[in-house]
Amino acid sequence: MRDRFGREIGYARISITDRCNLRCVYCMPESGIQSLRHTDILSYENVLRICRVFAALGICKFRLTGGEPLVRKGAVSLIARLKKLEKVSVTLTTNGLLLLEIAQELRDAGLDGVNISLDAREPSAYRRLTRGGDVQRVLAGIDAAVETGIPVVKVNCVPLGEESRENVLQVAALARDRVIHVRFIEMMPIGLGSAFAGVDSGRLREWLEREYGSWTPLEESLNEGYGSGPARYGSLPGFQGKIGFISALSGCFCENCNRIRLTATGFLRACLNRDDGVSLLPALADSDDGRLFADIRAAILDKPERHDFIIQKEAARGMMSKIGG
Ligand code: 5AD
Ligand code: SF4
Repeated sequence: MRDRFGREIGYARISITDRCNLRCVYCMPESGIQSLRHTDILSYENVLRICRVFAALGICKFRLTGGEPLVRKGAVSLIARLKKLEKVSVTLTTNGLLLLEIAQELRDAGLDGVNISLDAREPSAYRRLTRGGDVQRVLAGIDAAVETGIPVVKVNCVPLGEESRENVLQVAALARDRVIHVRFIEMMPIGLGSAFAGVDSGRLREWLEREYGSWTPLEESLNEGYGSGPARYGSLPGFQGKIGFISALSGCFCENCNRIRLTATGFLRACLNRDDGVSLLPALADSDDGRLFADIRAAILDKPERHDFIIQKEAARGMMSKIGG
């Protein structure tokens, strides 16, 4: 399915909850957020129904997100059921706190890959950034994911500003002796993120090169082998995993955007930073899928050409934990 700018849409990020067991400083206020009521979030039956329609439209790559997807009961069986659809891949973005316990179940369910968010490796720095998280559990979870053989394990790190240099170097080192790909994401001015400067990819690259030697970008064709997303991958001397940059601001990747987002409440969002989209709830009330197909097609056709971070840098367009990253 192509949008009106000719972009092939093949990837859906599906938020299954807005709840989270952490309170990262750039994502949630300390007191938490008013969580959605259980009755306001899509049932797994409806998620599956929507995903079946996605798959029929050629949108076959699914990523479950949150909040923290693993805090919703039954997430593993949802993955197993999604994997039964033909030709789909299913991946997960998690903060990793619960990964150690369920890595094997995830592997058995057929999970194709996991992205773990980790902004610092040093216990007190991690505790500060996440307001209470235990980094040892996350690190053990990352190792468990690799050891159980989940095919692709990636770590996502969002540096806050200049003071994040040590954290960046330490998180990057995870890719030295394991086949884990570490990606650094520029802070996006979304929700509480607007209060932080972030670090642009050029600066990050400087830090990493001074410490570890020069970063060699992968050839375009190889780069695609690491996923269809906006990361630009490369290697550092002696590192087993790749190091990638997601330059949300310094490099606009909207031109190649291949994705849509489904929120936990059933809103289909065509762009991360725009409110354009459609609620699928009316279509879900029908017993047949006709309107579901029509609404999803229409939302994709209407997908905006690009995000407006630059134009409206001050805009805090909703919380990341409700959009799903
Ligand atoms: N900018 C960039 N990344 C963000 N995330 C949450 N908020 C922001 C933001 N404002 C990231 C988390 C996690 C993923 C789901 O989204 O760090 O890795
Ligand atoms: Fe939770 Fe992720 Fe937000 Fe941190 S960034 S509070 S882990 S949803």
